[in-house]
Amino acid sequence: MNIDKVCIHGEWSSRLGFILAATGSAVGLGNIWKFPYMAGEYGGGAFVIIYLVCVALMGLPVMMAEVLLGKRGRCSPINTMRTLAEEVGASKLWQFLGWAGVIAGFLILSYYSVIAGWTLAYIPEVASGTFSAVTTMPETEVMGFVGSIFNNLTGNPLALIFWHTVFIVVTLIMLLGGVQGGLERAVRFMMPALFLLLLVLVGYAMSTPKFMEGVHFMFNVDFHKFFYPKGDQFSGDGLLAAMGQAFFSLSLGMGAIMVYGAYLPKHASIIQTTAVVVVADTLVAILAGLIIFPIVFSNGLEANAGVGLVFKTLPIAFGQMPFGSLVGALFFLLLALAAWSSAISLLEPAIAWLVETGKFTRFSATISSAVAVWLVGFATVFSFNLLADFKPLFDKTLFEQIDYLTSNIMLPLGGLLIAVFVAWMMKRQIITEELELSTDSFGFQLLQFLLRYVTPLGVTLVFLNAIGVFS
Ligand code: TRP
Repeated sequence: MNIDKVCIHGEWSSRLGFILAATGSAVGLGNIWKFPYMAGEYGGGAFVIIYLVCVALMGLPVMMAEVLLGKRGRCSPINTMRTLAEEVGASKLWQFLGWAGVIAGFLILSYYSVIAGWTLAYIPEVASGTFSAVTTMPETEVMGFVGSIFNNLTGNPLALIFWHTVFIVVTLIMLLGGVQGGLERAVRFMMPALFLLLLVLVGYAMSTPKFMEGVHFMFNVDFHKFFYPKGDQFSGDGLLAAMGQAFFSLSLGMGAIMVYGAYLPKHASIIQTTAVVVVADTLVAILAGLIIFPIVFSNGLEANAGVGLVFKTLPIAFGQMPFGSLVGALFFLLLALAAWSSAISLLEPAIAWLVETGKFTRFSATISSAVAVWLVGFATVFSFNLLADFKPLFDKTLFEQIDYLTSNIMLPLGGLLIAVFVAWMMKRQIITEELELSTDSFGFQLLQFLLRYVTPLGVTLVFLNAIGVFS
């Protein structure tokens, strides 16, 4: 038994500390930036429903499995998978799951930081009252105006590099602060504040003329349009994207939640804590959609505006509402904070591993990995300007390729392997001991079923569907 195994990196102060940190990891740009624009791109309701199904049937169980692995292994994903594979007598190759995770987190952060930089750039822009101009211009010009401000930003590589750098530097400082001193303290205030502000914005969205149209867009399910976006040509892309988004939004499949699980105090309940995290994350995504789409339709914007959607819609709201400059600046600040609490979880697996090699201190590990991510981020910076037409593969820019590879392939695959490892390789007795369940309880049976069959089959079918096997 490895019950006395301690984690060399420290621990959360309590169960609440873990809940806050894991929610901080889960809630981020994925909920407020990515979820609405993807739902918009894939036609709304069908995407939302499939997303929710994936969260319930794959996200929740995989999160429990991932926390369980971390809590038992007590190390970075690479060493956790190595020691646990040894413990159950499985192949050494399982540690590659840890490696893939470290790499995926690294790649995700490289672009995440650039997008978070947009959020930072919007703080002074909104605060200075730029967007109050929308109240005096003819309605037909609003769209062009908000679009040009967004395009001016993304078209300017130096500005993007500047904000990307600011974001990485602050991420680095938080990571240096370590588990309790840096992260836990920040998240404690941020999450409630962000939630409150979202509710205020939902209130605003309800006051726009097309609120119901927005709601309808989000919840009206049309599977035909979803699978046949271009008339009679079948496409499995939306399904793959919805599943990928479920893993992305919950921070699953690459070891972030695993390493957070490693910092979990010994007696904290895995089941209750993960349930809270999943519900909070889902709620924030839905609220974001309820805010964005009414504004989209009330101002004649297109729901499929892509990555700029949030940056073109919310400023209109801030331009029109009383104290909008203040509320808006506060909103983008909180969004940046939410992005920071996610960013740290993307780099923590790499840092933990570097420290475990014995060749790095926490300080040198953090600095070197942050510098490396910063450099890789340039690929994303240039994807929006100098290299916007450079589409070496599948007609996608470098940013789109990194995003596609990580969200749609690496994370679901990681989730599948985590499910398989826990449900097929580990002894029942270990699982039930960690989960504090009895082997014949309904909860355990259900979880075992979801992890054994539903997740692996689900991921496989969605993959096959996306490459056109069923069409
Ligand atoms: N879940 C975060 C978001 O929604 C992003 C994120 C943080 C993430 N850590 C992760 C995504 C690990 C995948 C894996 O913004």
